[in-house]
Amino acid sequence: MTIHIAAKRGDIADTVLIPGDPLRAKEIAEAYLEDIKCYNEVRGMLGFTGMYQGKRVSVQGTGMGLPSTSIYVNELIQLGAKRLVRVGTCGAFQEDLNIGDVVLAMSASTDSRINKLTFSGNDYSPTASFSLLNQAYIKSLELGLRTRVGAILSSDTFYQDDPEHWRVWAKYGVLGVEMETTAIYTLAAKYRLEALTILTVSDSLVTGALASSDERQSNFQHMAELGLALV
Ligand code: HPA
Repeated sequence: MTIHIAAKRGDIADTVLIPGDPLRAKEIAEAYLEDIKCYNEVRGMLGFTGMYQGKRVSVQGTGMGLPSTSIYVNELIQLGAKRLVRVGTCGAFQEDLNIGDVVLAMSASTDSRINKLTFSGNDYSPTASFSLLNQAYIKSLELGLRTRVGAILSSDTFYQDDPEHWRVWAKYGVLGVEMETTAIYTLAAKYRLEALTILTVSDSLVTGALASSDERQSNFQHMAELGLALV
């Protein structure tokens, strides 16, 4: 048992899919896994373990943002997780990214101080596992998904006063923004685990486009299938 996850070592599989939304965790478990056990309901942050095509896998909600995500990732690691695959959404910073495109996050810059606290004010470059990234890229193309690999931003804020705040990141080639991956990649590096973030574009800061709820649903299914293909 950890403080926020009511599971024992052994309840969690080596590979854990980590959506932000706990109801997405439930949806993935119910749609794709067999022999499901719900091992966590603390704070409504649902976690499930089941079988996918004969292989054991867990799915755990993390909540939104770096602090919540780092709590769940720390505790999943304490409970024995070896491979973490985030499935989520991002806002696009580049004009040639469209709603539904898959973004595989090679690196995750941040506007948070979370790593500066650890690295005495210096910058650290949180980076994906090459092996997972390579597998996901090949699989994503096989599934016929429009796929981009590159840098993302993990931001501390969803709402910002300055509407142009994102442009400097865009200028330096960052593909899009979410709010979790810097913490995941940093903890994976610390504990020598593999981690990858798979995102679909849900909105564009360039064009103002926003996914419809049908688009969100089908994009989410693509990501879940891609994530599960890595188990
Ligand atoms: N900002 C931050 N996180 C996000 C966004 C966004 O525009 N879209 C999806 N996750």
